[in-house]
Amino acid sequence: MTPEEFRAAGHRLIDWLADHRAGLAARPVMSQVEPGSIKAQLPSAPPDNPESFDAIMADVDRIVVPGVSHWQHPSFFAYFPANGLEASILGDLLSTGLGTLGLAWQSSPALTEVEEVVADWMRQMLGLSDAWSGVIQDTASTSTLVALLCARERTSAHGAGRGGLQGEPQPLTVYATAQAHSSIDKAALLAGFGRANIRHVPHDAAFAMRPDDLKRMIEADRAAGAKPCAVVATTGTTTTTALDPIQAIASIAREHGLWLHVDAAMAGSAMILPECRWMWSGVEGADSLVINAHKWLGAAFDCSLYYVRDPLHLIQVMSTNPSYLQTAADARVKNLRDWGLPLGRRFRALKLWFLIREQGVAGLQSRLRRDIANAQALADEIRKTPDWQILAPVPLQTLCVRHVPKGLAGEALDRHTQAWADKINRSGKAYLTPALLNGQWMVRISIGAPTTERADVMDLWRLIRATAEGA
Ligand SMILES: Cc1ncc(COP(=O)(O)O)c(C=O)c1O
Repeated sequence: MTPEEFRAAGHRLIDWLADHRAGLAARPVMSQVEPGSIKAQLPSAPPDNPESFDAIMADVDRIVVPGVSHWQHPSFFAYFPANGLEASILGDLLSTGLGTLGLAWQSSPALTEVEEVVADWMRQMLGLSDAWSGVIQDTASTSTLVALLCARERTSAHGAGRGGLQGEPQPLTVYATAQAHSSIDKAALLAGFGRANIRHVPHDAAFAMRPDDLKRMIEADRAAGAKPCAVVATTGTTTTTALDPIQAIASIAREHGLWLHVDAAMAGSAMILPECRWMWSGVEGADSLVINAHKWLGAAFDCSLYYVRDPLHLIQVMSTNPSYLQTAADARVKNLRDWGLPLGRRFRALKLWFLIREQGVAGLQSRLRRDIANAQALADEIRKTPDWQILAPVPLQTLCVRHVPKGLAGEALDRHTQAWADKINRSGKAYLTPALLNGQWMVRISIGAPTTERADVMDLWRLIRATAEGA
């Protein structure tokens, strides 16, 4: 492409995106295609000769878009909000367009320094003390893996430099509730702890970790010859946005020398609201925490903020420092490759920097407050409707609901729940996530797409009632 061709195609693409986003409400939320149907429309071999931008965009319209489920749609109530606001999209495009890599500070100084500044802006927005240092990872799964690697190395006094976990005389154990995200177990497995050393701590009726059980399990493990290593507490669990009691967990972790990692991947965004910060009260007692700016906050995927209180320990665990990456500036700068897993780093900070500047903290706060108020309004409607249940507290924007017609229970109730959720998803009118809670199916309603207003939420409620009660 010549610069002029690039300019013309780029203008077209932005125009296309602006039209696409403006027209989302008219599209089915969940893609309606059958498995394999996208692949079947694509040539199985690459083109030998160049194709025009027109031809590529025609296939985007014809083949790709029908195969996209629209997370930015006003009737997207599935999974969690993964909002890519316009300013953030442009920041992401700029990052890709600059095509620069942060192998070392010197390989692109702005990449490192904008990230340092924007991670510190976020720290302030979240109400965290200046004892925290932040870095941007791709996802919470990576952040949590890094946390558990750091925990392992602290408990084993850097056993990786000896025989690793295989050389440890005692097994190291990790604690979280069964409500914790699957990335916690995955990180523990990848960090080599072994399934037998992952403990699922019981939770209370609000799906929050029971600190007394955590303490009991740590003591029992210690008495049995294990070495308790890390506890992962969640602020806003995936299924119900349950809030583990961080204060109590932090004090047990401190007493027993465990690493405390706080997974606030989803709910962390709400900590920019002072009125929500009670939800992670005690967070200053943690060793690490993760917040996905690519969820509710509005940064285009991927943008996961990872904060630690002891950056030197993190660097000791992560640093490899081969000669070809060393530079004369190293003593005076941060080399963020030593703050995570990959060597090559994208200029991810740009999309967050653009987002925060274009929205302002006040703009971000008011959207989150809108979503919380919408969730409360829907909860009020559901509570006063016969045969409908809300199954967990609603501290934020997620509701777990079930329609329980008289006489329906057990597997028949599960079939009913899955049937009405599936019918709605297949209609394309709204998108919801069915999930198991205490062994029984229910439906999660996760509010917070950028264009979801009160009217969309109330339309959803009418659709849900008509579908479930008419089913
Ligand atoms: C509480 C929680 N933790 C972790 C994750 C995983 O996030 P990621 O996709 O960034 O790895 C999620 C995603 O849904 C989540 O809700």
